[in-house]
Amino acid sequence: MSAPPAVIALRKVVKTYAMGEVAVHALQGVTLDIGAGEFVAVMGASGSGKSTLMNILGCLDTPTRGRYLLDGVDVRLLDDAQLAEIRNQKIGFIFQSFNLIARTTALENVELPMVYAGVKAKERRRRAMRALTTVGLGDRVGHMPSELSGGQQQRVAVARAIVTDPAMVLADEPTGNLDTASTAEVLSVFDRLHAEGRTVVIITHEEDVAAHAQRIIRLRDGAVVEDVRRLSALRAVR
Ligand SMILES: Nc1ncnc2c1ncn2[C@@H]1O[C@H](COP(=O)(O)OP(=O)(O)OP(=O)(O)O)[C@@H](O)[C@H]1O
Ligand SMILES: [Mg+2]
Repeated sequence: MSAPPAVIALRKVVKTYAMGEVAVHALQGVTLDIGAGEFVAVMGASGSGKSTLMNILGCLDTPTRGRYLLDGVDVRLLDDAQLAEIRNQKIGFIFQSFNLIARTTALENVELPMVYAGVKAKERRRRAMRALTTVGLGDRVGHMPSELSGGQQQRVAVARAIVTDPAMVLADEPTGNLDTASTAEVLSVFDRLHAEGRTVVIITHEEDVAAHAQRIIRLRDGAVVEDVRRLSALRAVR
C-alpha cells in the first residue's frame, strides 16, 4: 500500500519565542508528513508544543527555521494576504473554547466565514443550514450559544469550520471542555469528517479521544518522540 500524497510536510521545523532575554524553544526540529485524508491525533504534556505545531499547520504562525510545505507550497513564500486566503479556503479550525459569537444565532455564527468570503446571502444560508444539519443541529439553527449545551456549541463550531468545505480540519482540544456524552457527539462528527475524506488533525490529552485517530503523534519538549499508525481506529457508536 503506498502512502497518500503529503498535504502537510514539515522539515526540521523550529519555533522559538523570544521572551525578553530568554528564548523559549517551543518546537525543536519537527519533521513530519501527513497524507491527504489521514486522521491524526497529537498528544503530549502541557507545554510540549502541541498548540504551537497546530498554529504553524494552520498558517496562523510561521516557523522560525525549517520548512512547511502545504499542498507542496512553501508557506515562507506567501505573504499575509495569501496565507489568509489559504486559511479561508483549505483549513477549518476548532478550538477548546468554541469561540462562538454570543447573542448571535447558530445559523449566523456558521454563516460568518462566508460573509468574509463574499458569498451571497441566500447561498450563505443554504450552506450554513446544510453544515448544521451535517452536525445534527438542523433543529437548533435559531438558538443562541447560551441556549445550547456545550456539545451542541462545539458542533456549531464544527459546522462553522466545515461550511467553506475545507480539505483539512485542525482542532485544538475540541473536547477539553466537554462531558462524556458531549465528547461522544463531537467525536462522531469528527469520524464523519474523516470518512468524507478530509484530513483531520486533533490535539488531545485524552487517550480515548486519540483512539478515534488512525495515527498518534506524541510530542515531548517540542520534538516528536512517537509516531504510530494503527489499522483500526475506534468508531463512535451513535
Ligand atoms: N506566544 C508565546 N510566547 C512565548 N512563549 C510561548 C508562546 N506560545 C507558547 N509558548 C511557550 O511554548 C511552549 C509550548 O507551548 P504550547 O502552547 O505549544 O504547548 P501545548 O503543548 O499546546 O500545551 P497545553 O497542553 O498546555 O495547551 C510552552 O513552553 C509555552 O510557554
Ligand atoms: Mg495547547
